[in-house]
Amino acid sequence: MTNKMEYNAPTEVKELEIISTYHLEEEAKKVVPKGGFDYMSGGSGKEWTLKRNDEAFFHKGICPRVLANVEFPETKTSILGQELSVPFIMAPISAHGLAHESKEAGTAKGIAEFGGSIMSISAYSGATFEEIDEGLNGNNRWFQIYMSKDETMNKNILDEAKKDGASAIILTADATLSGNRERDLSNKFVYPFGMPIVSRYLTGSGKNMSLNNIYAQSKQKIEPDDVRFIKDYSGLPVFVKGIQCPEDALLAIGAGADGVWVSNHGGRQLDHAPGSFETLESIAKAVAGKVPIVFDSGIRRGEHIFKALASGADIVAIGRPVLFGLALGGHKGVTSVFKYFENDLKRVMQLAGTQTIKDVKNTQLIDLK
Ligand SMILES: Cc1cc2nc3c(=O)[nH]c(=O)nc-3n(C[C@H](O)[C@H](O)[C@H](O)COP(=O)(O)O)c2cc1C
Repeated sequence: MTNKMEYNAPTEVKELEIISTYHLEEEAKKVVPKGGFDYMSGGSGKEWTLKRNDEAFFHKGICPRVLANVEFPETKTSILGQELSVPFIMAPISAHGLAHESKEAGTAKGIAEFGGSIMSISAYSGATFEEIDEGLNGNNRWFQIYMSKDETMNKNILDEAKKDGASAIILTADATLSGNRERDLSNKFVYPFGMPIVSRYLTGSGKNMSLNNIYAQSKQKIEPDDVRFIKDYSGLPVFVKGIQCPEDALLAIGAGADGVWVSNHGGRQLDHAPGSFETLESIAKAVAGKVPIVFDSGIRRGEHIFKALASGADIVAIGRPVLFGLALGGHKGVTSVFKYFENDLKRVMQLAGTQTIKDVKNTQLIDLK
């Protein structure tokens, strides 16, 4: 139970030999205090959607291609004019300090040492912009906002994110309150440390507060005007995160969104939502290339990245596996997770006969339904 007690986050820093990210989760469970581990790995309700995020990938197959004249597949790509060495970035995630004492600064350092990817910084980070910046050491970053009910606060937060060097803003729109996180409720989970970025609009620092309490103090009525406000005020490209329906993708684009982020928040919000991957193809069809698409929720293997790109995503975001790597090996563990995904994707690309990310995107998956 993580309830107003001292929280002993893991401290080890080491490279990891990763068999699979599923193994990584089992190993992380052994070193992270129960309240923190359940918060990280759990979903909402019966966790049906959480499971479905994984199972959804079973409904499409990748045809192994032969005589394809492929060697050393190339994973480089770009999004919104930003060059990437791999088609995956870090998803915005709160409270990395539950996984490791180095908090978000550890994750940032791990990503920077990998190079060529992007760190998404959550508004609910347990570290300050300055601490994360030190880890990032000039690496690209995007900032994910949970809005305050107060417009001046939102302007202050956007000013700070911009000053910190964020090159895009992610508006998370699917978390206007917390999903029914039964594991957290039974653990009576409260954050063991504060949230410096949003503490300005909370009644406390965030420490010893529940997620429900924190969400309730954030803005709950989110509408297209919020997208316009963020875009106009910050002057930065805006992604709307949490899109699961084609209509909402079009609504976001109509409000000026520069990108659509397909996600069900890792099965942590509305349980009985479909697996995120099941929603991707129809959304991509509706978006029809007007803006780039980021996909997340359930990415655990190179095959998942491949299938998401072949179904219309431009890049994907990795969530929980990075936290598990952080827990087991600090910043070096994070770099190991990124390298794992890079190598795994290259293996899949080779066996699927695809030399470049463009080839992956042009691949026709086999419908197994
Ligand atoms: C522990 C945890 C905290 C999260 N915190 C945030 C957050 O602060 N902001 C946000 O937009 N999404 C948050 N998410 C959702 C992630 O951005 C992403 O959508 C999710 O992790 C994808 O699912 P996966 O990790 O199972 O692949 C969080 C997810 C987890 C697991």
